[in-house]
Amino acid sequence: MSRITFTAARPSGTQALAVEYSDGYQVTYSLMWLLDSCPEGFHAQTGERAFDLLSVPDAPLLHAVQVLADGRLELQWEHDGPASHFAPEWLAAHRPGVPRTDAAAVEYSYWKAAALKDGPARHDAAAILNDDAALMAWLVDTKRDGLTIVQGIEGTGEASMAIARRIGFLRETNFGQTFEVVNKADPNNLAYTSLALALHTDLTNQETPPGYQFLHCITNDAQGGGSVFADGFAMAQVLRDSDPQAFDMLATTLIPCRFFDREYDIRIHKPVITLDHALAIQEIRFNAHLVDLIDLPLETVDAWYRAYRAFMRLTRDPAFRLSFRMAPGEMTAFDNRRILHGREAFNPATGNRHLHGCYVDRVEFDSRMRMLAARG
Ligand code: OGA
Ligand code: ZN
Repeated sequence: MSRITFTAARPSGTQALAVEYSDGYQVTYSLMWLLDSCPEGFHAQTGERAFDLLSVPDAPLLHAVQVLADGRLELQWEHDGPASHFAPEWLAAHRPGVPRTDAAAVEYSYWKAAALKDGPARHDAAAILNDDAALMAWLVDTKRDGLTIVQGIEGTGEASMAIARRIGFLRETNFGQTFEVVNKADPNNLAYTSLALALHTDLTNQETPPGYQFLHCITNDAQGGGSVFADGFAMAQVLRDSDPQAFDMLATTLIPCRFFDREYDIRIHKPVITLDHALAIQEIRFNAHLVDLIDLPLETVDAWYRAYRAFMRLTRDPAFRLSFRMAPGEMTAFDNRRILHGREAFNPATGNRHLHGCYVDRVEFDSRMRMLAARG
């Protein structure tokens, strides 16, 4: 493959530079962007921007433009400041409006239960622990479907946490760095009872609910206690298509979420559905147990209830609900800001049920994917 070179570069108006490359592409760059992005403005060791944007005029002007013998473009400026230098491949790769390539950018695959009728994708604990390629394969599946199972976890306690730590540090919450889902005598959370848990996402009362959740099954020999999962993005998309008014209501109305016990009273107002800047679904916050008293005015409260009940009804639709029974040595890994999880009630008189849980946030997850990709 031949290398790209500069074939021409000249001012375009007063505040832009038109560049032509040997592959025929012509790209126009803002002069302010060139000053701000010039690789020489970044610290050689930390890689952070050292350049002070206010050290240059509001409307910087070019003094001279030339291609150097080594193939780089040199820009000299009218103001008192160092010249800027750009390699052709670098400048060609950073066209206006084009984000960096991102090894963590896995396309979401929305699913209904039938699509995962053989269960979520399975990955082996030992491989994840010992092999970076296996770790990456697990992360890709977990991000794509939002849900996978890790099997063959030996031991209890630290064993599954070591797998989560292969991704990144654990997200601590008011329930601790890790938590034990067992039937407790003095529960501060419905998960710590033997009751059924309707489909939900965890910690909706937090400013940012934890990203990925890991539930390692230690014991599951009581009657009942089956697990259920559903793709919140898939359900939200169905709502968006079938009842856009309800979708918009859930995406724009802030509702109060609250957890409180003897030590904490953690509250936040947030919408059930969060969209990103491109209006794609970014997050579902759905936990009926943690919705505080709705404080909407009379004019909007019934419209909100209609929308919320429409989404809630989708969570009860068997087409979305993937049910299976977790076995000891298995761990579910899922995006807690996308996938809803729940369980059937269990009968503690017939045996024990114990899941060991922890969280790793989305940004740490994505960071690990990028570092694994960079190491090749
Ligand atoms: C939880 C939870 C599910 C289960 O701990 O948040 O939802 O299967 N547990 O017990
Ligand atoms: Zn939960």
